Amino acid sequence: MSGSRTKFIVSPGGRLKGTMRVPGDKSISHRSIMLGSLADGVTEVEGFLEGEDNLATLNAFRAMGVKIEGPEKGRVVIHGVGIDGLKASSEDIYLGNSGTSMRLLTGLFSAQKFDTTLAGDSSLNTRPMRRVTNPLSKMGASFKTTEAGTPPVTIIGNQRLTGINYDMPVASAQVKSSLLLAGLYADGQTCVTEPAPTRDHTERMLKGFGYPVQQTGNKVCVQGGGRLTATKIDVPADISSATFFMVGASIAEGSDIILRHVGINPTRIGVINILKLMGADIELSNESEIGGEPVADIRVRSTSLKGIKIPEDQVPLAIDEFPAIFIAAACAQGETVLTGAKELRVKESDRIQAMADGLIKLGIDAEAKEDGIIIQGGQMTGGTVDSCGDHRIAMSFTIAGLRAAAPITILDCANVDTSFPSFAKLAELSGLKILVEDN
Ligand code: S3P
Repeated sequence: MSGSRTKFIVSPGGRLKGTMRVPGDKSISHRSIMLGSLADGVTEVEGFLEGEDNLATLNAFRAMGVKIEGPEKGRVVIHGVGIDGLKASSEDIYLGNSGTSMRLLTGLFSAQKFDTTLAGDSSLNTRPMRRVTNPLSKMGASFKTTEAGTPPVTIIGNQRLTGINYDMPVASAQVKSSLLLAGLYADGQTCVTEPAPTRDHTERMLKGFGYPVQQTGNKVCVQGGGRLTATKIDVPADISSATFFMVGASIAEGSDIILRHVGINPTRIGVINILKLMGADIELSNESEIGGEPVADIRVRSTSLKGIKIPEDQVPLAIDEFPAIFIAAACAQGETVLTGAKELRVKESDRIQAMADGLIKLGIDAEAKEDGIIIQGGQMTGGTVDSCGDHRIAMSFTIAGLRAAAPITILDCANVDTSFPSFAKLAELSGLKILVEDN
């Protein structure tokens, strides 16, 4: 897909059937490149997500002198340069739409011996960076950003970093990870305390690369000055991508699908918990642990959903899944209320507004709130909705087609390629009537 004029047109009806494996986890794929590049030795990755966001991370490390083979059918081989082996990039590094690359690399590069400039697309260039640059500055790092504290970010090299104890004001795995990556280079210990548990892939993967991590309750610490040892990584299927099919199968009568080898890390399964509270029929089987991450096959059969008050403790555990959960809410009986989710306003788009606007266009009673939304379940009509260039909004309104009364046209869908390039193909194979129009 290319260009902001890519449209999805979904004909109403259909049901989801079959067994499928969605592509690899985006968060783990990013971290595999980062830690593999800094490790001593050769890291082999299977199941790498070949989406634009992860390729942005991969290209950043190539630009800094790391030899990386692939990706080819999800296989990547990274010839680690060691913790002090990165070289200055001859050009600014372009990270496209990828907030995870931007925030994690800002931490990691703040301890290098050279300056680096990280730039993004029009969406990424509006996203808040002070949440990382403020605490990193307390460690001794130095930056230039726009006056609004947004990218492009220039990271000034040759700063000496000292570990800090940081109480995160927002529950953010990107902030936590950014500080821990800087902490690998800091004098002393860097500790981050989170207000609520967030995805812990950085912690798990650091340990997988032989780097000690101390964890007590919501506090995680690393001691600077250690080294990473190359390893093998098997990236599980991304639960965030599986979500579209979990919701799709739940809402479309007669559906029965199995999603294979999905990562079910406890810090990521908010969507399963929330859908189950709504009455969804979700069954896990073949549970195992691969490379420190729990995985399972997930079977989902259609059922009638009911509206709920979403427990706030599930919000960080389902942070990327809310656009799809809102579609489930639109198809449920009664009212669904989300609170405590202000972070959704600073994702790839303002996801509260973008979803409320789209749902209203489809005839659903949806009320955007500062920190959440109230949705009354009902019959979706057809219509044209704007994804605002946000991959997850685009995919969410696509599965809405399963329950709409007339076709839905979704505008600006090219960014689906950032996280799930095979989405349209898999959606069609599993029973969705989707047409991709590339103008
Ligand atoms: C991510 C953390 C989350 C999530 C993003 C991936 C990560 O962002 O929304 O898609 O890989 O660390 P926040 O830390 O901003 O919540």
